[in-house]
Amino acid sequence: MVLLRSPALAAWRRLRPPARLGPHALGAAQARAASAHCATAALSGPPAGPPVAPRPANEDWASFSVEQWRSAAYCSKSFFAQLSEDTTDFIGGLCDELGGADEHGPLLVEVGCGTGEALLPLSVGAGARCRFALGIDFNPAFIRYCRETVPEECGSRVKHLVGDATDLVGLCQRELPVEWHAEGRPKVVTCVGNTIGIMPQEVRAKVYQQMMELAGTDGYMVVVYWNGNRFGDAVQNFYHKNPQLCGEFTGASVDFDTCTLTTPSGYSTHWTKPEEARHIFETEIGARVVKLQESGNGVLVAGRAMWPF
Ligand SMILES: C[S@@+](CC[C@H](N)C(=O)[O-])C[C@H]1O[C@@H](n2cnc3c(N)ncnc32)[C@H](O)[C@@H]1O
Repeated sequence: MVLLRSPALAAWRRLRPPARLGPHALGAAQARAASAHCATAALSGPPAGPPVAPRPANEDWASFSVEQWRSAAYCSKSFFAQLSEDTTDFIGGLCDELGGADEHGPLLVEVGCGTGEALLPLSVGAGARCRFALGIDFNPAFIRYCRETVPEECGSRVKHLVGDATDLVGLCQRELPVEWHAEGRPKVVTCVGNTIGIMPQEVRAKVYQQMMELAGTDGYMVVVYWNGNRFGDAVQNFYHKNPQLCGEFTGASVDFDTCTLTTPSGYSTHWTKPEEARHIFETEIGARVVKLQESGNGVLVAGRAMWPF
């Protein structure tokens, strides 16, 4: 299967321990229990007993189940609710500026779209802010779920594709109707919810370049990082309280200097400070920063290529 030979996936597998499937994977009922545990933990402090459900710690993203991800995402919602709104406003504003849902409005792309929550409010219904929307993810179960979630009447404007973010430009050329990605159509190419932070370094560099190439000099590439200035708060009030997401860990797993958490289960995440985000855009990617906003748990950055490709 092509997907299994993907360089990004291979790199991700090197980073993660091998998948443990079968009895260790969460079933739907366990996921609901985890979800309930999670909501309680997030609202009322550390859990009194052990976690309700076994952790999906050694799963890798390409085979993560929808229930596993959404139970974790549900946990995230209480901690990241404001950031979800800020992300929608930030990206929505850029889409509006480029024509919104009008005939000549932008193609909005999300790489690593997961189960599709970030794209929905921007692409579906009367409040849509873009002409066309595309979500890509290398997890086929997530993409199947996204397709089931999008209302049928939006099918001609909203697509979800299984694909590797390191092949974003090629994927768009091969799979999208010309009208969606023609040269005159502005593109807003996004990677949100710290998705970039879970990618191995060599994959990340390729994804940045693909995003910038697709966005060009008249669109936007948008990256939403989790804010390094909130890392300490997140360790205490998010990760410690949600062991079903990252496993149990001690202080040895936390590097406050680099804002990185690497737990014994293999979970790894990096939080990014605003000055680091600017540096990544300007130095690592070679993009011009057009807008940078620090809002609560997020650092939201929009940039574009300085020269045409
Ligand atoms: C942390 S989740 C975030 C999902 C979504 N952006 C959100 O905020 O809810 C990261 C997602 O990126 C996907 N992903 C990671 N690396 C990828 C790659 N190289 N190509 C495509 N998808 C990738 C994973 O399958 C997963 O769904």
